[in-house]
Amino acid sequence: MLQYYEQRYPEYEAIYAKPERQVDLVWLEARIRELTSYKCVYEIACGTGYWTRRLASFAERVHATDVSQKLVDLAVSGCASDNVTSETADAFNIPKSQNFNCVLAGFFYSHVLIKQQSPFLKGLAESFLPGTRVVLFDNRYVEGSNTAVSRCSDEGDTYQTRLLSDGSSHEVLKNFPTESELKTTCAPFLRDLEVMECQYYWLVTGIISD
Ligand SMILES: C[S@@+](CC[C@H](N)C(=O)[O-])C[C@H]1O[C@@H](n2cnc3c(N)ncnc32)[C@H](O)[C@@H]1O
Repeated sequence: MLQYYEQRYPEYEAIYAKPERQVDLVWLEARIRELTSYKCVYEIACGTGYWTRRLASFAERVHATDVSQKLVDLAVSGCASDNVTSETADAFNIPKSQNFNCVLAGFFYSHVLIKQQSPFLKGLAESFLPGTRVVLFDNRYVEGSNTAVSRCSDEGDTYQTRLLSDGSSHEVLKNFPTESELKTTCAPFLRDLEVMECQYYWLVTGIISD
């Protein structure tokens, strides 16, 4: 996945220009703005920084992280304000911190194997203080807009075959959890859990339990 996203970065943000998703993207951004305004945000898997740039204007400060140093550098270089810091970090091994009251991951959860979803959420809940707000959001599957699912594993994980403009082909894990699956998986770690959905996106928010 690391190699795929590093290779994809020049064309990555075209995904946010899909015409049919614009109304829902406005909805998604409004929810993220409400949930992160004036917060100190730890961003997991920042990628090219599409959300980092927006968070920098909504939040008090943003700490942008990704497993790829190249993408972290790219994300930060796109931010004009001085309230953005950064670090290379693995979402499955987040350093413990008391410096944030919000942790956010956009379009990352879909790339987590079903069997790793609970360990990911457990790690996240243990890395930040109880009371920290969690915001996760990702794609819902919409026929004709998303790349078709090309394979489903015995464990239920779904994969897509994606082509880049250089002609390379990549099999990428992309899960599309239902509202009820999201609630069941997140409930042990988050209180005041809310799952919001529009046609193209879902968003989960909750507070790390004591
Ligand atoms: C779909 S992109 C999302 C980028 C950005 N959050 C966005 O919404 O535009 C997924 C990102 O996850 C990052 N990633 C993959 N595995 C990771 C891991 N174990 N820890 C942290 N980041 C990871 C990739 O480098 C890539 O930037």
